[in-house]
Amino acid sequence: MNALPKQVKIVEVGPRDGLQNEKETIPAEVKTELVNRLSSAGFANIEAASFVSPKWVPQMATSKEVMAAIARRPGTLYSALTPNMQGFEAALAAKADEVVIFGSASEAFSQKNINCSIAESIARFVDVAKAAKGSGLRLRGSISCAFGCPYQGEVPLAAVADVVGRMRDLGCDEIDIADTIGVATPRKTQAVMETAIGAFRLDGLSGHFHDTYGQALANIYASLELGISIFHSSVSGLGGCPYAKGATGNVATEDVLYMMNGLGIHTGIDLDIVVDAGQYISQVLGRKGASRAGNAIAAKRAG
Ligand code: HMG
Ligand code: MG
Repeated sequence: MNALPKQVKIVEVGPRDGLQNEKETIPAEVKTELVNRLSSAGFANIEAASFVSPKWVPQMATSKEVMAAIARRPGTLYSALTPNMQGFEAALAAKADEVVIFGSASEAFSQKNINCSIAESIARFVDVAKAAKGSGLRLRGSISCAFGCPYQGEVPLAAVADVVGRMRDLGCDEIDIADTIGVATPRKTQAVMETAIGAFRLDGLSGHFHDTYGQALANIYASLELGISIFHSSVSGLGGCPYAKGATGNVATEDVLYMMNGLGIHTGIDLDIVVDAGQYISQVLGRKGASRAGNAIAAKRAG
């Protein structure tokens, strides 16, 4: 068995993936406060905004205000989702450091999520990718339903390899392999990740696991065994995708940090500050957070 990576990058996606699915409108001030708290925890990358159609995802309509109001921590990249040139222009104006083009390994999901086929989405991304590079922005590609799809079920490994290759050819600096509906288990995770490793640099691949079936931490560990060293997580386990019914949030950041700390893997992130941020957003949302580690640490503090 290979040694696990000594250090990993945790991309905090709570302010975007976490909050995009909330039904009640969350004021921009709350989102800004959440991003600021996460920044102070030391993340190198926070997904803070999404410049998509407000008709499709109303919760993200305040992305411009949030990007204008956040206190930017030197050393943190603030990312924004950009499905097309309209989104890219908005992200550029909002001074995003990194833009995220998001496609799918499933045709059915591509249609539901971004209203076009995989091939059409890649064609749209060509201009976004060129514009991002031309403006000196980092470019990330996200691939939904790499482990299974809520509409078509099985997603062939060949489809994952194909989209990873297309994202690579667009010039992506990093590519996310996403389990949108949290169906993967560890061996399946390794099969998909090995496929992705066959098509892109190991150190540019990330695991984006939703925790719907409680498998996300196991899948992260399985990915670590292959040398994957970038993972996405959401403070307090917030979230879900509006176009994947029943899918719960991303794996909770607190849980991932607790596991990395226990494994002696360096993250550069202060778990206590993340726990505080999780408590803050849970209070605003009026419900108990979904992070087991976060709740345990908070309970221990309360004595
Ligand atoms: P469309 O309707 O095919 O696009 O939507 P269109 O170009 O025909 O435009 C229709 C209208 O949308 C127009 O407005 C445009 O101006 C507007 P109207 O004339 O009707 O008033 N529009 C925009 N407005 C703001 N910003 C934009 C933009 N683009 C068009 N960028 C589109 C296509 C992609 C825009 C739409 O399907 C969309 O916004 N989808 C968003 C889907 C989404 O955000 N999903 C959640 C994020 S992905 C995710 O969560 C998965 C991930 O976490 C990984 C994983 O877990 O799998 C990343
Ligand atoms: Mg997601």
